[in-house]
Amino acid sequence: MLKEIYYPDRDFAKQARIKNMCEYRDLAGWAKEDYEGFWDHWAKEKIDWFAPYEKVLDESDAPFYKWFVGGKLNVSHQCLDRHLDQRKNKAAIIFEGDRGDKQVITYLELYRNVNRFANLLRNEFGVKKGDRVVLYMPMIPEAAYAMLACARIGAIHSVVFGGFSAEALRDRIIDAQAKVIITADGAFRKDKPYMLKPVVDTALEEGCDSVEKVLVVQRNFEDIVWIGGRDYSYNELIGQQSDTCEPEVMDSEDPLFLLYTSGSTGKPKGVQHAQAGYILWAQMTMEWVFDVKENDTYWCTADIGWITGHTYIVYGPLAAGATTVMFEGVPTYPDAGRAWKMVQEYRINQFYTAPTAIRVLHKLGEHEPEKYDLSSLKVLGTVGEPIDPPAWKWYYEAIGGGRCTIVDTWWQTETGGHMISPLPGATPVKPACATFPLPGIMAEVLERDGTPVEPGEQGLLCITKPWPSMIRTIWGDPERFKKSYFGDVVKEGKPVYFSGDGAVIDEDGYITITGRVDDVINVSGHRLGTAEIEAAIKKHPHVAEVAVVGKPDDLKGESIFAFVVLKEVDDSFGEEAELAKEINEVIAQEIGNIAKADTIKVVPGLPKTRSGKIMRRILRSIAKGEEIKQDISTLEDPSIVAQIQTCVIG
Ligand code: WTA
Repeated sequence: MLKEIYYPDRDFAKQARIKNMCEYRDLAGWAKEDYEGFWDHWAKEKIDWFAPYEKVLDESDAPFYKWFVGGKLNVSHQCLDRHLDQRKNKAAIIFEGDRGDKQVITYLELYRNVNRFANLLRNEFGVKKGDRVVLYMPMIPEAAYAMLACARIGAIHSVVFGGFSAEALRDRIIDAQAKVIITADGAFRKDKPYMLKPVVDTALEEGCDSVEKVLVVQRNFEDIVWIGGRDYSYNELIGQQSDTCEPEVMDSEDPLFLLYTSGSTGKPKGVQHAQAGYILWAQMTMEWVFDVKENDTYWCTADIGWITGHTYIVYGPLAAGATTVMFEGVPTYPDAGRAWKMVQEYRINQFYTAPTAIRVLHKLGEHEPEKYDLSSLKVLGTVGEPIDPPAWKWYYEAIGGGRCTIVDTWWQTETGGHMISPLPGATPVKPACATFPLPGIMAEVLERDGTPVEPGEQGLLCITKPWPSMIRTIWGDPERFKKSYFGDVVKEGKPVYFSGDGAVIDEDGYITITGRVDDVINVSGHRLGTAEIEAAIKKHPHVAEVAVVGKPDDLKGESIFAFVVLKEVDDSFGEEAELAKEINEVIAQEIGNIAKADTIKVVPGLPKTRSGKIMRRILRSIAKGEEIKQDISTLEDPSIVAQIQTCVIG
């Protein structure tokens, strides 16, 4: 397939860290020839070690790989203390609130704020190295302080996205056995206050015995319930804390954080990341992929509840000594020019967002960007889902002025940082294509037996060597870790990391991600397991059986389509629309609004094999309104297919 090629801007390339494909090939070749030497070099150059490591990579307990074994460091030191000589007065965080309020926090101020926060957790709440702290926070600077404060004292944070329900929050608190919850009364969205603390209160009503204290940042100052002896106001306590705090000496492999993410089966899994490898790659990819320079202002629109917010709002930019913009609001409020206005105002140089946001901003304000001066932009990034060529083109032309490389970054919660992405000064880009693995990353598109696919054929996207920022395990469930990632693809007798994504590699070696090949749905760049949504829907008293599939959606990438089979229902049962509403309420309660189904269809049965397995591929075709190409003769009841089709069309 021949695609247009877009070359990096020449002037930009000249000053970029990686300036051309020769330099890229040299780096990638170095990693291939001397894998450990390559990583050893960067780890020594980039990390300010308290004590050196003894071994670069320990593979003896594969797939539980260990990196920079025996090294000592502190991630908050890497992000803060290290910069104080050179950039103490540089803006570390530029915050813009929903209502336009602004705050600039310099590296010195950030250092002090984090130390105060760390002292509060350590001295007032007794949080120790290894304790788990759950954050349920809005997009305010205190969220970043809290993450870094945990890192400073060696506590393991688990940030739960503010859109998750009390049930989902509770599950994560219990799984991690968290000692402290950090939250806010709420924050502002579209000029109105919204609340978080009441959700925490509900979550803590049952089963959260591990939780001793709740720290509440007062952001919108709405009325909330305070439970004596449990709930404390950050605003009241923080002023009394010392602004120096000795960083805990951490081992390279000590856990840094947990982040729960959806898989194809069961409950969300607590992806566990380690200290040194994670921060090394967060910093290196900031430098290579965004090419962030000393005077740049970088903005990633993600939420800190997702891995993108962890690596590319907080840890990566700060480790790289960059200025990172944090935004509380939504890019479409008060109008579709909000983001572009901010780009103009702060002279943003690198802008990183999700394809869904690009599609929405395109739809709502195709000509909006023309009203603003976007000439400061140098690099544009996308992440989270495949981007379609029309959205890519608009982003490239209308936002980037045909000048900025679009870095279509493929990676996952589990990978910690970018894996496959263009390099903005080097890579000739094909639209909507993640291009090549970054130097040091051995990404391959394989068959299940580990053989590479032919150019143009779809295969499984795998990483065939361990890398420093990889997931270490699933919290409390090492067997599930092995099974989830190292069970499906075996290359040369060795299980390799399988991402769950499909990809195509073309004759030039360009990799295009085609999307999940497992039962994970990607709605607006949010990962949701069909199993989780189905478990929620089954809680509705009328539902006997359910199967959920993803259906391609112009705006959201995928939408959620649920096929439900009802129990024997009496006459009191109302309209399908009414039922759909009720089911969505159950989903909102169990998981959160982000998991609500777009379509819910009542069907007489599900297409099952004789062994009882639901054939989701058939349901996906029906949801899309496609002709059924699969062989249905193996179904227990082949006639069910036509019946389901009638229900869906009717
Ligand atoms: C998808 C987000 C296409 C993919 C960083 C992956 C992408 C899942 C891209 C991980 C991309 C991420 N092109 N698809 N550039 N980036 N994905 O864990 O399906 O929230 O497996 O991490 O998002 O989602 P997660």
